[in-house]
Amino acid sequence: PLRLDIKRKLTARSDRVKSVDLHPSEPWMLASLYNGSVCVWNHETQVTSRPYCVLHVCLIFCLISFIDSDDMLIKLWDWEKKWSCSQVFEGHTHYVMQIVINPKDNNQFASASLDRTIKVWQLGSSSPNFTLEGHDKGVNCIDYYSGGDKPYLISGADDRLVKIWDYQNKTCVQTLEGHAQNVSCVNFHPELPIIITGSEDGTVRIWHSSTYRLESTLNYGMERVWCVCGLRGSNNVALGYDEGSIIIKLGREEPAMSMDTSGKIIWAKHSEIQQANLKAMGDAEIKDGERLPLAVKDMGSCEIYPQTIQHNPNGRFVVVCGDGEYIIYTAMALRNKSFGSAQEFVWAHDSSEYAIRESSSVVKIFKNFKEKKSFKPDFGAEGIYGGFLLGVRSVNGLAFYDWDNTELIRRIEIQPKHIFWSDSGELVCIATEESFFILRYLSEKVAASQESNEGVTEDGIEDAFEVQGEIQEVVKTGLWVGDCFIYTSSVNRLNYFVGGEIVTIAHLDRTMYLLGYIPKDDRLYLGDKELNIVSYSLLVSVLEYQTAVMRRDFGMADKVLPTIPKEQRTRVAHFLEKQGFKQQALAVSTDPEHRFELALQLGELKIAYQLAVEAESEQKWKQLAELAISKCQFSLAQECLHHAQDYGGLLLLATASGNAAMVAKLAEGAERDGKNNVAFMTYFLQGK
Ligand SMILES: *[C@@H]1O[C@H](CO)[C@@H](O)[C@H](O)[C@H]1NC(C)=O
Ligand SMILES: *[C@@H]1O[C@H](CO)[C@@H](O)[C@H](O)[C@H]1NC(C)=O
Ligand SMILES: *[C@@H]1O[C@H](CO)[C@@H](O)[C@H](O)[C@H]1NC(C)=O
Ligand SMILES: *[C@@H]1O[C@H](CO)[C@@H](O)[C@H](O)[C@H]1NC(C)=O
Ligand SMILES: *[C@@H]1O[C@H](CO)[C@@H](O)[C@H](O)[C@H]1NC(C)=O
Repeated sequence: PLRLDIKRKLTARSDRVKSVDLHPSEPWMLASLYNGSVCVWNHETQVTSRPYCVLHVCLIFCLISFIDSDDMLIKLWDWEKKWSCSQVFEGHTHYVMQIVINPKDNNQFASASLDRTIKVWQLGSSSPNFTLEGHDKGVNCIDYYSGGDKPYLISGADDRLVKIWDYQNKTCVQTLEGHAQNVSCVNFHPELPIIITGSEDGTVRIWHSSTYRLESTLNYGMERVWCVCGLRGSNNVALGYDEGSIIIKLGREEPAMSMDTSGKIIWAKHSEIQQANLKAMGDAEIKDGERLPLAVKDMGSCEIYPQTIQHNPNGRFVVVCGDGEYIIYTAMALRNKSFGSAQEFVWAHDSSEYAIRESSSVVKIFKNFKEKKSFKPDFGAEGIYGGFLLGVRSVNGLAFYDWDNTELIRRIEIQPKHIFWSDSGELVCIATEESFFILRYLSEKVAASQESNEGVTEDGIEDAFEVQGEIQEVVKTGLWVGDCFIYTSSVNRLNYFVGGEIVTIAHLDRTMYLLGYIPKDDRLYLGDKELNIVSYSLLVSVLEYQTAVMRRDFGMADKVLPTIPKEQRTRVAHFLEKQGFKQQALAVSTDPEHRFELALQLGELKIAYQLAVEAESEQKWKQLAELAISKCQFSLAQECLHHAQDYGGLLLLATASGNAAMVAKLAEGAERDGKNNVAFMTYFLQGK
């Protein structure tokens, strides 16, 4: 399926709308009404604005009048000769309902008539060039296909059918059935690979323009549909109804784009493939979240309408998928290398391998562009996932297979949406509609089980995976850098997950899709539906350090530490603390508060003392005094209580330790500072 995202942008109630048009550059829709008025609506300022301009119909209609259907004739009016009628086209035997000019030949036009025919005419000749017959009832509407590859016309009629005609060999190539009433308008979208039809049954139907499959049926409850208008360069489509007009926005949910590890991005703008190279930006200053000024290079057009584009792991090839087909191209020159039919395509971790899902039961594995194996997973195949293991989704859950021999590794009761493997193949994220799981893949245990045949059940190898955590967030797109899982969430957050902790990198203002991470730039790259690319800073040293900590590789961590900028150290220290490495956290942190806390927790009196001296805070002295007492460091405790001016504490310490000198000293100090209760008690104890 096309996976078109359809959103209603404007609902404008009015009397019956018989014609709609979209302005090529302004956000305006022109609607002409059956009652004789013309309304202009601004679809950006207000969802349901009142018409701010109502002209009288005569004025507009004489400008655009080309057709006079009442007398079965078509008339051509010459505006340079004071709107005189310069030609009459004769041939229809009933009302003429619509004419359209051939976008590829402005001297040719086609007409639809209630006499059940479509006629094609040449300017200069008053009789039709030819007639297309096939509808059983009156033809209401026609449109030309504007793409260069097919000489097609489309028509809609009172027989409730839509027909597609090849006007070169003059045959009907397809009939679209489905509307339950007269078809009133048809449109070949000028850019998207869709046909839009509207009917008196109140529905608008969207069909794929090459497979002719029905993609969507829209019913907005505005009674009969009369007109539709699509615009080149825009995703807006205007619809006119008995009760007003509607603008819908058609778009792909996810852009077809992919980036290789060197920073070359390939995307599809409709059927055109384009490339942009991050390296070509040079040293331009880049700010987080700002659109990158990329130069775009056209690479040619694709024979299918691309829905996804994906580089293989080494970046030498890209696969383009759409319309149930895939084509593998060389990433550099877009030369096709292999192609075929497939419902889905995934790359393996090994760059020379890939799998396709041929149907809901058959999966095929290819190596070096040759079919290696075709197999039928036990419970069918509703989806496949690439990476370290081949994932197959069925009603029964997810099954992981070995790429080499298609042996079952493990079946998991889960319905995944996405699966992301880390580069090392040790970690995998399985994202569902509600949450995501991080699992560790235990390849050694798998190898041992395969060897000994122990711990193998009908659900595969029991110890193949170990769950590291479940996080209640919906992952949209994701990728791994080391052991850190970076993702965009359904609430437009850019986060990363490492060691049970989620760090938010940014709050995004719209839906963005992760393209990749370039360690050399310390930046993450994301794209949006409009093919804008933005980036966010994310230090590779921090990610490497966290990865080393997760792997308990402190040798590596110590090596990376000097490359982490000072201002990031405390963040890293908090991470260490959460992982239970307080000693390391104390060594790394640069925040005195954090260090003091850690020193207290670790019982590091000397460090804590130093920090308390620097901070000159009563609170710190009190905390340190407590620690000193608990460690029987009474002279230190005494000093701390002095700094904290904690007379009650000093009294307790002095009397409990039977220290007469300390009591005497405290008496003087307390009296001097007006702490009369303590002063009284100390003098009393000394018998003074
Ligand atoms: C036609 O309908 C529109 C909106 O429904 C209304 O504003 C306008 O006044 C009507 N025009 C006539 C001539 O009745
Ligand atoms: C129809 O038009 C084509 C050129 O587009 C021309 O060659 C042909 O003679 C025309 N046929 C008739 C019947 O006018
Ligand atoms: C729909 O088609 C029927 C049959 O051709 C016709 O009688 C009817 O007038 C059409 N409806 C409209 C509104 O034109
Ligand atoms: C006319 O051309 C279409 C392709 O546009 C083809 O499918 C069809 O078979 C042709 N019909 C005849 C009668 O040649
Ligand atoms: C692949 O390329 C060959 C030759 O360059 C061409 O004939 C063929 O149509 C192409 N196929 C696809 C699916 O792009």
